Amino acid sequence: MKVLLTGAQGQLGHCFRDIFPSNWKLVALNRLQFDITNYSAIDHFFATHKPEIIVNTAAYTAVDNAEIEQELAYKINVLGSKNLAIASNKYNVRLFHVSTDYVFDGNKKSPYLETDFTNPINIYGKTKRDGELVILENNPSAIIIRTSWLFSEYGNNFVKTMLKLATEKHELTIVDDQFGNPTYAGDLAKTILDLFKKEIDGGIYHYCGNVPTTWYLFAKEIFDIALKQGMLTHIPKILPIHSKDFNTKASRPLYSVLSTKKLSQYGIKSSDWQKELATCISKIKSIQGVLLQ
Ligand SMILES: NC(=O)c1ccc[n+]([C@@H]2O[C@H](COP(=O)([O-])OP(=O)(O)OC[C@H]3O[C@@H](n4cnc5c(N)ncnc54)[C@H](OP(=O)(O)O)[C@@H]3O)[C@@H](O)[C@H]2O)c1
Repeated sequence: MKVLLTGAQGQLGHCFRDIFPSNWKLVALNRLQFDITNYSAIDHFFATHKPEIIVNTAAYTAVDNAEIEQELAYKINVLGSKNLAIASNKYNVRLFHVSTDYVFDGNKKSPYLETDFTNPINIYGKTKRDGELVILENNPSAIIIRTSWLFSEYGNNFVKTMLKLATEKHELTIVDDQFGNPTYAGDLAKTILDLFKKEIDGGIYHYCGNVPTTWYLFAKEIFDIALKQGMLTHIPKILPIHSKDFNTKASRPLYSVLSTKKLSQYGIKSSDWQKELATCISKIKSIQGVLLQ
């Protein structure tokens, strides 16, 4: 099996590389080696290297900066996605693409289904939703996996930000009125690999953590585990606040819990994120050591 991975240097790309079976061929390329906004380079690559599967983890992911860099976010998340859809359709390559819970406005009170009405409330979410649409239009057999609140030992994410802030601040205010599902990026990578072997129709699927929470409660779990594992010597005081009192450039949905029922029909289990959080923190600890304050 010959697989092309885009965005190989990103958080999910890194996790995917870690678990990729050694008996398959992986061509893992970063932005400099494979720019998804450059159609002629993509076409040339597909014609020359003939991958059987492409996993697209490349994206513009800076949610707040997207409000300022709208054109760049659109170019990567919409035009880049369209390029991959056209080329994968032309060369009959199976495309796996990743999208986000931020395609929803957060007004629902029960977990979002794949068929639910989308209404993104920030530019990042709009570009990711438009990316989904251009993919389905240009390659109906593409598989799009929406996920949420990704964390891992790699890249920038909430867990690493909290651990860093714990060493810098005595008191933190954390939003406690946004509900979502943290997802260990390694579990998502494994799920994508598992789906390679399944007969699965093109379309949208949800994959995320098994238990919803808020950013405040997520932070509490991070600090409790880091303290228990001896990574932090003490933890900052954390105060729950409302989104309206936390100034960010981009608005975020208050509720973006995803239903994973559709994928569970294929035997896929949600990410046991609380268990993986402990493992992830111990991996971060082995890289960074004890964070002294
Ligand atoms: N992180 C989350 O919480 C979250 C939540 C829901 C969904 N998602 C989705 O999950 C996917 C993976 O996210 P992630 O956390 O792994 O993101 P990430 O760490 O930001 O990785 C994205 C990668 O894409 C690369 N990239 C950007 N523009 C590119 C281009 N034109 N051509 C090729 N590569 C390009 C980036 O390279 P540079 O570093 O060089 O820019 C980066 O390595 C994305 O589709 C994201 O929208 C993420």
